[in-house]
Formats: sequence, structure tokens, C-alpha cells
Amino acid sequence: MKRILIGLVAGAVISQAAVLVGDSSRGAALFKSQNCETCHSINGEGGKMAPDLGKRASRGYSPADLAALMWNHAPQMWSAMEKANLTKPKLDSQQSADLFAYFFAARYFEKKGDAGRGRQLFVSKGCAECHNITSTNGLGGTPVMKWASVTDPIELARQMWNHSPKMRDTMGAKGMKMPILTALEMNDIAVYLQNLPQTKNLKPEFAPASPTTGETLFQAKGCIGCHVGENSLAKKSSMRTASEFAASMWNHSSKMKQQSELLPEEMRRLVGYIWALQFATDDGLAARGQKVFEARGCGNCHDKGLAPKLAMGERANSYEMISVLWGHGPSMQKQMASQGIKWPRFENTDMSDLLAYLRTRR
Ligand code: HEC
Ligand code: HEC
Ligand code: HEC
Ligand code: HEC
Repeated sequence: MKRILIGLVAGAVISQAAVLVGDSSRGAALFKSQNCETCHSINGEGGKMAPDLGKRASRGYSPADLAALMWNHAPQMWSAMEKANLTKPKLDSQQSADLFAYFFAARYFEKKGDAGRGRQLFVSKGCAECHNITSTNGLGGTPVMKWASVTDPIELARQMWNHSPKMRDTMGAKGMKMPILTALEMNDIAVYLQNLPQTKNLKPEFAPASPTTGETLFQAKGCIGCHVGENSLAKKSSMRTASEFAASMWNHSSKMKQQSELLPEEMRRLVGYIWALQFATDDGLAARGQKVFEARGCGNCHDKGLAPKLAMGERANSYEMISVLWGHGPSMQKQMASQGIKWPRFENTDMSDLLAYLRTRR
């Protein structure tokens, strides 16, 4: 497991947590090889026996949410697997991170925004001036059909960052004001573009790079110059959606005098870092987590010598909890049944609070 230290200002380490970053194409392969696809679909594609995993769209979809969902549904899932004669898969932490990245990418394709509104915005925000759908027009904007960003939210963020200064200049020359995009508007535009007949069947992708190298770049590119103190990105603890991120990349040009272009690899690194930041800081309340631990009866075994003393330290993160579930869950479930302990359910912040508590046990 990779352990990263994130220090924003020299000497001021804000968080110390083990954060893995997943890769959606590895996740997609696992989804097949581990037979998830036999029962589950992603946005309509795949088995129909179990919930569609691309459609879990609550705004703050995080690894802790996925861990809680899997724990909650595990007993039913296992009995469905036994009936279907499928062996229960084992997943390590990295594989759990890969699956999360895959579901996250699938949500980028989720038809939650309003394509009709998106089409209007594409015109009213001036995008259609330069961009046709299938052909290149006189102003040279890449036709939408050829956009890598339609399938890849990181590429979308990069493009929004890279060409907003040019647009600001073009529009300035015509005496127009640079349009600001809200996250909602960006999402509507993305939904519109992803659901054109020409783009609808493309496969999603989401492959952020290592947070450690991303942090270096965050400094080298001068992001740190503004994002310190009150503006530190670590201050915002909720998850950013892909559209929110792309919209903020676009809106920067109105705040900056100079903006250097980012290469694909650079944006992957920055996103890896910013992603890891939000998981490293979104870490729940240990005191509440202790109550969850007690109320769910975990201590009945783990503090009474019937099961390993839980001293996970930094190993207690969402991906590890998914891995533990698939590895130890079935035998834990048997023991629980024999002691009349109900299989636990986790709601709201229960899982992240529990993890915060487990990290304090060493
Ligand atoms: C044999 C069929 C089957 C297989 C294979 C299977 N699942 Fe499930 N899964 C289910 C069923 C049935 C449910 C719903 C259980 C319930 O209603 O409590 C479920 C629920 C879930 C949920 C909660 C979904 C929600 O939105 O409520 C997640 C997440 C999940 N499964 C992930 C996976 C992953 C990842 C894999 C592959 C490693 C997998 N499942 C393999 C049958 C299966
Ligand atoms: C003044 C002309 C102009 C306008 C207006 C414009 N673009 Fe562009 N856009 C371009 C050009 C030129 C490129 C090719 C950029 C390059 O190759 O560096 C481009 C590229 C892109 C790409 C990258 C496509 C890919 O390869 O994945 C995206 C995404 C994009 N634009 C989105 C938008 C959106 C959204 C708007 C409206 C908010 C917009 N553009 C408005 C000229 C424009
Ligand atoms: C000139 C100062 C400046 C620089 C340099 C800068 N930003 Fe920003 N950034 C801002 C401001 C101002 C905001 C808007 C904050 C707000 O609206 O809450 C912002 C917003 C953001 C957001 C959204 C924050 C949120 O609360 O959701 C992200 C992500 C971000 N910037 C990333 C970057 C990255 C990556 C770089 C370097 C490539 C960078 N910024 C460089 C000033 C800057
Ligand atoms: C009925 C007894 C019992 C209860 C109640 C129980 N567990 Fe376990 N747990 C076990 C056993 C036994 C193992 C080891 C299983 C194995 O070796 O496969 C285990 C393993 C684990 C592990 C893996 C240990 C490691 O270091 O990797 C974790 C994490 C865990 N349990 C968490 C929990 C949590 C959280 C709860 C409460 C929601 C809980 N357990 C409730 C019996 C229990």
C-alpha cells in the first residue's frame, strides 16, 4: 500500500493517510473478470439481476459510500452468488480503488443533467461559434465527435483550463465578456455532448496519476501560490464532481494574468493529487465512530478475543474495508449468525466515522 504524506506548507503536514488512486480501465476489466457483470449493469449494460452500479448518483459519492453500500448488501449478494454457483471474489485494496474509479467514471456519463438545457448553453456560452458536432468550421474548434474529453473527465478539465485564456482574448477583442460556467451548466453541457447519436456509445475513462507526483506539480505550476491558507484545496472536504472540477478549471482565466498550458499527463497528476486530498481530509469523527463500533457489536468479538484485535492504524481506509469485506466477511457473517449478532448496516457518515475511529486503534 502506498502511504503518502501531504504537506502543503513547509513543515505543516495537514494529513497523513494512506490513499490509493484507482484506474477505471483496470476497474472495468475487474468488473468482468470478477463476475460482477453477471448480475450488475453499468448504465444499462450488463446483468439485470442486481442494481445498476453506474446510477448511484448522490452528489458526494465517495469511497466510504461504496464501502458502506457493499457491507450493507453483502449478505444478499453472497446468497445470490451461492445460488448462481459463483465463487465469491476476493478484492485487494488496489482493486477496490480501481472499481471505485470505474463507477466514478460511469457516473460522468449519467444522464442526470439536462441535455436540452445543455444544448442551449452550448450556444449561449459561445461554444457553438467555434465548435460543430461533426465537422471543423472556419474558426477551427475541434468537432465534438473527436473530443477525447467526451469520454474522459480529466481531459475535459484540461481542455477547459487550456483554452479559456484564448477564449478570453478572442471574446475580449470582440468586446464580449468571458462567460463564467457553473458546475450545473458544465454538467448540462457534458450530458448534452455525451448523448449525441455520434458519442453515446463511447466508453468512459478515468485514470488519475499518483498523488505524490501530483503534489510536486501543484507546486511547480504555481497553483500553490493562490491555493494556500483559506484557499487551500484541502479546506473543502466534500467531493468534487467531474463537472464541478472542469467548470472551476474554466473559470480560472478570469482570475489569472497568465496561465500556462497543461499536458495530459500533467492534468492526470494534478487530479490524482486533488482527489487524494479530498479523501485524506474527509475522514469522519472518531468519537462518533466509536459509537458506531459499539452499536454494531464489533467489540463483541474484536475486543473479546474471539477475533483479531483491530489495530489497523492507517490501514483503516475505505478500500481496505471493501477488501476486508470480501476476504473476511463470509466467515464473520457465520460467527455473527451463531452469536445472534445482526449483520451491520451503515448509513450516512457511519462508515467514515468508523474508519476515523479504527485509525486511532493501534
Ligand atoms: C450473483 C449475483 C451478484 C454478483 C456476481 C455480484 N453482485 Fe453485487 N449485488 C447483488 C445483489 C442481488 C445486490 C442487491 C442486494 C440487496 O438488495 O441487498 C447487490 C448489491 C451490490 C451493491 C449495492 C448496490 C446498491 O446500489 O444498492 C454493490 C455496490 C455491489 N453489489 C457490488 C458488486 C461488485 C463490485 C461485484 C463484483 C465483485 C458484485 N457486486 C457481484 C448480486 C450480485
Ligand atoms: C473562439 C473559438 C472557440 C470557442 C468559442 C470555444 N472553443 Fe473549444 N476549442 C477551440 C479550439 C481552437 C480548440 C482546439 C484547441 C487546441 O487544439 O488547443 C478547442 C477545443 C476544445 C475542447 C477539446 C476537445 C478535445 O480534443 O477533447 C473542448 C472540450 C472544448 N473546446 C470545449 C469548449 C466549450 C465547452 C466551449 C464553450 C464554453 C468552447 N469550447 C468554446 C475553440 C473554441
Ligand atoms: C491566481 C490565483 C490562482 C492560481 C495560480 C490557481 N488558482 Fe485555482 N482557484 C483560484 C480561485 C480564486 C478559485 C475560486 C475559489 C472559489 O470560487 O471558491 C480557484 C478555484 C480552484 C478550484 C476549485 C476549488 C473548489 O473550491 O472547488 C480548483 C480545483 C483549483 N482552483 C485548482 C487549481 C490548480 C490545479 C491550479 C494550478 C494549475 C490552480 N488552481 C491555480 C485561484 C487560483
Ligand atoms: C461475531 C464476531 C465478529 C463480529 C461481531 C465482528 N467481527 Fe470482524 N472479524 C471476525 C473474525 C472471526 C475475523 C477474522 C475472519 C477471518 O479470519 O477470515 C474478523 C475480521 C475483521 C477484520 C479484518 C481484520 C484485519 O486486520 O484485516 C476487520 C477490519 C473487521 N473484522 C471489522 C469488523 C467490524 C467493523 C465489525 C463491526 C461492524 C466487526 N468486524 C464485527 C469476527 C467478528
